[in-house]
Amino acid sequence: MIHDKANHTCDGEPSLTDSQVLEFCREGHLLLKGVVPDEINRRTRDYLEGKVPANPSYIPDGLTEADLERIRASHEPSTIFLEDWFVENVLLNSYVVGVMRSLLGSSFGLPVLASHHHVQCPMPAQGWHHDADHVFGPELNFVEVFYFPQDTPVELGPTELVPGSHIMPTKRPNDEGGVFADGPAGTIGIHHQSILHRRGLSTAKGTRHMLKYNYWRTAPPQRDWITEPDFDFQSAYYGGHNQARYVAHMFYWLCGKGEEYRIIGGQAWPWTSPNQIGPSYGFGSTNGYQPDWRKHNQDGYAV
Ligand SMILES: [Fe+2]
Repeated sequence: MIHDKANHTCDGEPSLTDSQVLEFCREGHLLLKGVVPDEINRRTRDYLEGKVPANPSYIPDGLTEADLERIRASHEPSTIFLEDWFVENVLLNSYVVGVMRSLLGSSFGLPVLASHHHVQCPMPAQGWHHDADHVFGPELNFVEVFYFPQDTPVELGPTELVPGSHIMPTKRPNDEGGVFADGPAGTIGIHHQSILHRRGLSTAKGTRHMLKYNYWRTAPPQRDWITEPDFDFQSAYYGGHNQARYVAHMFYWLCGKGEEYRIIGGQAWPWTSPNQIGPSYGFGSTNGYQPDWRKHNQDGYAV
């Protein structure tokens, strides 16, 4: 693992295989349970609660010590990224680095902004929402992380997600559940920023901290994660109706082949059924369509 402090980037060995990268494209999230050591989780809680003095490894250009104090006391305590113990054990956690290297390529950018979600439980669930400024598209230029520095069982209201909801605007009644990012202290949820989510209902008593931040792509996409010799682009499972076309596009974009991706519709590739007697037609088509990701530009971005 190489940490380039001057450029605020990191490099390392990818840990995800073709199938796992495709799974992330399809589901939009993955969970690393309890990957941060307890001592660091405790220190993080103490830092966020103002119980330990700050010890920044440097003062970033353009900022003063007074700025750092103000930032630490805000709801965006990004100064925690200046603490060596946090950088080494959380930002550069080996499990996280392996995933980020797989999804974002070499020399990926480290977070610059932390958002602290601090709740006294019990609390009702939030409404389902896509976060502000999300964008729908095949590109994966950044990936979002939720870090829970205390035991966060379902009773303490971990983030709740709707798998596969990162590809288009999704509505869901608030009385319908999702998948919980629950786990012991040191659990890190990794997801596509556009995914539908909410803070789950909590029934237990206690403080729930959660830090949210993003990792960033700096290199053009290419298939440089762990490739599987027998991975078959034609028969791989990209998802169901009105999903597979987007998931396959995202996977092709990550492989550096987003521009050449074409589909012809209907039962053709990337659609597939376990009950067909031969491979799907339309694979490798040079004529055809690319999915219209944003239709009426519902995320507010122009073409
Ligand atoms: Fe949110």
